[in-house]
Amino acid sequence: MPKFPTLDDIDVRGKRVLLRADLNVPVKDGRVTDATRIERLAPTIAALIAKGARIVVMSHFGRPKGRPDPGLSLRPLIVPLRQALGGREVGFAADCIGEPAKQLVAALRPGQVALLENLRFHLGEEANSADFARALAELGEVYVDDAFSAAHRAHASIAALAHLLPAAAGKLMEAELDALSAALEHPARPVLALIGGAKVSTKLDLLRFLVGKVDVLAIGGAMANTLLYAQGTAVGRSLCERDMAENARQILALAAEHNCRVILPEDAVVAAELASGVAAQTVAIDAVAADMMILDIGPATVARVAAALDESRTLVWNGPLGAFETPPFDRGTRAVAEKVAALTRAGRLRSVAGGGDTVAALAAAGVTDELSYVSTAGGAFLEWLEGRELPGVAALVAAARQD
Ligand code: 3PG
Ligand code: MG
Repeated sequence: MPKFPTLDDIDVRGKRVLLRADLNVPVKDGRVTDATRIERLAPTIAALIAKGARIVVMSHFGRPKGRPDPGLSLRPLIVPLRQALGGREVGFAADCIGEPAKQLVAALRPGQVALLENLRFHLGEEANSADFARALAELGEVYVDDAFSAAHRAHASIAALAHLLPAAAGKLMEAELDALSAALEHPARPVLALIGGAKVSTKLDLLRFLVGKVDVLAIGGAMANTLLYAQGTAVGRSLCERDMAENARQILALAAEHNCRVILPEDAVVAAELASGVAAQTVAIDAVAADMMILDIGPATVARVAAALDESRTLVWNGPLGAFETPPFDRGTRAVAEKVAALTRAGRLRSVAGGGDTVAALAAAGVTDELSYVSTAGGAFLEWLEGRELPGVAALVAAARQD
């Protein structure tokens, strides 16, 4: 990871700081249903308050496509943000640029916090427009990016803006990048990557990158069915991308070239349909009946993954290993999550996980706080696992070079 400036490198006292956050949190009926991203942002705001900055929080929310949409306003975020800041007042501007924003920002005193309306109400945000970035830059003197989970978007508040003001990473951005680079750039070996989820087609680049980086690749979830099918195993009525068989074989060949050991399911929990409480059976992987669906990894596979984890020092995990939302098909993911938690607790494994479904599965298993690091990012975590340069990170690194 090239060097990027952090809060320690910039002077913010008395200054107006434009803080790019990711407040794109799940909201239902006007209420935030998971405040993780807000809670993880709060220490950055607290640090800026302690330094006497005037803080202007900016974020996108949903995908309003460049037009104001009352259903995608950031207003419902004012109260949760205030709560996360120990009750501190949070001002609000009904537009992120122009007069409303200018007036709000002009009235801010050191230590005060304001939130701007959804950046994506303007087309310029997603277009990475220089004009829109300049309109934002007028509101502040310093730029801090704490939105790792949006760093894969080359949008104006993430890319163009970072070049217009002195820029630094916030504490959450710094923590994410430190944890992720410790897991793949200079990890303690052996490194095991545990990859699940439904489709191989969405994770081809990720698998290609990982087989060149890690020592062991363990695959679960429905995507494993495609790899099994590609090797000639009958998978019955399981979810399987038959048109991806050739890609799957290429990935297995690439893994062999790189001496990356691949663990595929050797047994499975099958049922006639995916429904809660349905009659499920455990079968060897070469004994899946034609009318059955593979819905979870079986106990022999769990044991094999657990044994590989025992021998590993670093884990990168993305994707559930079975249909974990529907019991009893959550068992495999849960058992592996508990094993990961136990090894991490014992100081034997550095464990890093990310991605929306993965985080939900870890939360369901009750182990989120026991892993070394759980990323707040979905798409950005996946792109990082593909070895891609994230525009938000690149902008911060470039800003460091400009200084
Ligand atoms: C996320 O929630 O993953 C980020 O905020 C990015 O949102 P987007 O996929 O709408 O760009
Ligand atoms: Mg940036």
